[in-house]
Amino acid sequence: MIVLERSVPLDRALKGMADDARATESSALIAVVDDEGRLCGVVADSDVRRHLAADGALTAPIGTVMRHDPIAFAVGTPLDAILRGLPSELARTAHRSRHLVDKVVLVDEDRIPRDVVDLRQLLEQRVAVNRHVVIIGLGYVGLTLALVMAELGFRVTGVDNDEGVVATLLEGRSHVHEQGLPDMLLRQLGKQFQPTTTMPEDGDVFIIAVGTPFPAGADAPDLSALEASCVMVAQRLRRGGLVILRSTVPVGTTRQVVAPLLAAGSGLEAGTGFHLAFAPERTVEGSALQELRTLPQLIGGLTLDSLESTAALLREVSPVIVRTSTPEVAELAKLTNNAYRDVTFAFANQVARIGGDHDVDAFEAIRAANQGYPRGQVPLPSPGVGGPCLTKDPLILAHSLAGTSAAGDLLSVGRAVNAQMPTRIAQQVVRALGRGGVDPAGARAVVSGLAFKGEPETGDLRDSPGVDVARSLQALGLTVVGTDEVAAPEGIEQLGIEAGRLPSALVGAHVLLVVNNHRSHQNLPLPAFAELMGDAPILFDGWGLYQARDVLAAGFACYLSYGVERWSSR
Ligand SMILES: NC(=O)c1ccc[n+]([C@@H]2O[C@H](COP(=O)([O-])OP(=O)(O)OC[C@H]3O[C@@H](n4cnc5c(N)ncnc54)[C@H](O)[C@@H]3O)[C@@H](O)[C@H]2O)c1
Repeated sequence: MIVLERSVPLDRALKGMADDARATESSALIAVVDDEGRLCGVVADSDVRRHLAADGALTAPIGTVMRHDPIAFAVGTPLDAILRGLPSELARTAHRSRHLVDKVVLVDEDRIPRDVVDLRQLLEQRVAVNRHVVIIGLGYVGLTLALVMAELGFRVTGVDNDEGVVATLLEGRSHVHEQGLPDMLLRQLGKQFQPTTTMPEDGDVFIIAVGTPFPAGADAPDLSALEASCVMVAQRLRRGGLVILRSTVPVGTTRQVVAPLLAAGSGLEAGTGFHLAFAPERTVEGSALQELRTLPQLIGGLTLDSLESTAALLREVSPVIVRTSTPEVAELAKLTNNAYRDVTFAFANQVARIGGDHDVDAFEAIRAANQGYPRGQVPLPSPGVGGPCLTKDPLILAHSLAGTSAAGDLLSVGRAVNAQMPTRIAQQVVRALGRGGVDPAGARAVVSGLAFKGEPETGDLRDSPGVDVARSLQALGLTVVGTDEVAAPEGIEQLGIEAGRLPSALVGAHVLLVVNNHRSHQNLPLPAFAELMGDAPILFDGWGLYQARDVLAAGFACYLSYGVERWSSR
C-alpha cells in the first residue's frame, strides 16, 4: 500500500506507483492523506492519464490530481459486504464505470488507511470461502483456527494423529482452554468442522499447525511432526492446491524442508504446481479467538500467486495482511516477535538478580527508571518466562544463527537468565526459612498460580516457571502444594505436585509464593491467609503485587521479593 500526503509532487508519486505495480503485478493505487493522516483521496493510473492529457504538470502536487471522496470500507468489513456495497458506493461517488475501480482502500475508525484490497482478489476470495480446508494438528493453534474458519463458513476438516485429542473433540469437549472455544466447538462439530485421525481424500487448502518443539538439551528443533505432515499432505495435494505452514520454524524451513517434501510426494513443482506460503500464528493464549480476528496476518509466499492465494483466504479471518517479499522474511519476523520479548524479560530478570545481590528492591528500581522517562520502558521482573512459545522460539532463532555456537549468543543467554529464576527463588525462600528458624526439610509451601501466565488467563501448565518453582522447592526438601484458578487439579497432580485450593491449602503452611499475575492475586485477603498459616508465615511476591508494609501488617512475619527480605519487628 502506498500512502502519500497531498503535497507530494506527481513525479515522485509515479515512481512509487511503478514499484507498487511491479510488486503486486496489478495497477497501482495511492491513498492520499491529509495533514492528520486521514484518507482524503486516491490516485490511480487513470487519474494520472487524465491529468497529463489535460496538460497538467509532472511537478503538480498529487492533491490536485487525486480523485476526492474515494471508495473506502472499514477494516474488518466482511468480503460479501464489500462486494454488495460496491455498486451503491460507485453510484454515490459518481463513477461512470465499475471497470475504473479495481482496488478499494480499507480505513480504520479514524479514517487512517490500513490496507488496499484488489477487487480481483476479493472475487477470488469468494471462491476461497467455498474451499475445503484441511488443518493438520489440532493443538492450540490448529483448533482455534479451525473453529474460527468453520464459523466463517469454510468446510474444515481437522486432522490430528492423537486419538485421545480427536475422541475428546468428537464428544464435543475441547482439550484446549480458551474462552469461547467450547461453545464454538458445539456449534460447528459435525457441521462445518470435522475432527479426524485420518487425512480426508480431498482438500483444496492444507494448513500445517503441528508442534515444533525444541527438546531440552538438543541443539536443533524437532521438525519430525512437520516432516510427517508434509508427507501426508503431499499424497493429497492436487495441481493448483494451496499449502500454508502455520507452525513456528527456523528461517529457511518453508523453502528448504517443506517445499521439497511436498514436491517429492506429489510429483508437482512448488510454486507452479501448487502454492506454498508461510503464515505464522501470533495470537496470545487466553485471547486467541479475539486476536485471530484482529492481528495482522504475516504472509510470505514462495511466489506472488502463493502469497495472494493465502492473503485471499486469511483476509476472511483477519482484515489486515502484511505481505513479506519471501517466506524467509515472515519466518524471521515471527521468531523476532517472541525472541525479542524473551530477551527483554531476561533483561528485567537480570536486573532482579543484581537487586538480589545488593539488597536493592528491583521492582522499585525499574519503576523509578521508567517513571516519566520517554525512551525504552523496561518490563518488570517475574519468576521466569514460560509457555510453549517464548521458551523455545528464541532457541529456534538462535539455531538460525549461521556459523556460531548457539551457547554464547544473546538469545540463548537471555533464555538461560529466565530459566534460572525458579531455582534462585526457591533458594531465596529456603534461606529466609532458615533465618526464621524453620527447617526447610519439614516446611510446607503453597505455590499459587501454576499456569504459565495469569493475564490473559490460561490453564496451560506447559513450561511454566511456577511449576519449576514448585519442583525446585521439592528438590530442596519442602512439601509443596500447587494451586491455580484455571488449570485443572488433575493436570497439576500429573506433574507430581499435590493440587490444592486457596485458602484451605494454606492451613499450617510456612510459605505462600505468588508466582503468576492472575487477577485473583490482586486482592488476596492477606490477614485471613496469615491467620491460617503456621507460625512466622512468609510471603514471596513474584510479580510486585503487594507492598511489604501491608503484608507485614497483615500478620506475615516476612515479605520476600527480588532484592527484598523484610521481617516484621514483632
Ligand atoms: N500455543 C501457542 O499459543 C502458539 C502460538 C503461536 C505459534 N505456535 C506454534 O504453532 C505450532 C503448534 O503449536 P501448538 O501449541 O498448537 O502445538 P500443540 O502441541 O498444542 O499441538 C500440535 C498438535 O499436532 C498434533 N500432531 C503432531 N504430529 C502430527 C501429525 N503428523 N499429524 C497430525 N497431527 C499431528 C499433535 O497431536 C497435537 O495435538 C508450533 O510450531 C508452535 O510453536 C503456538
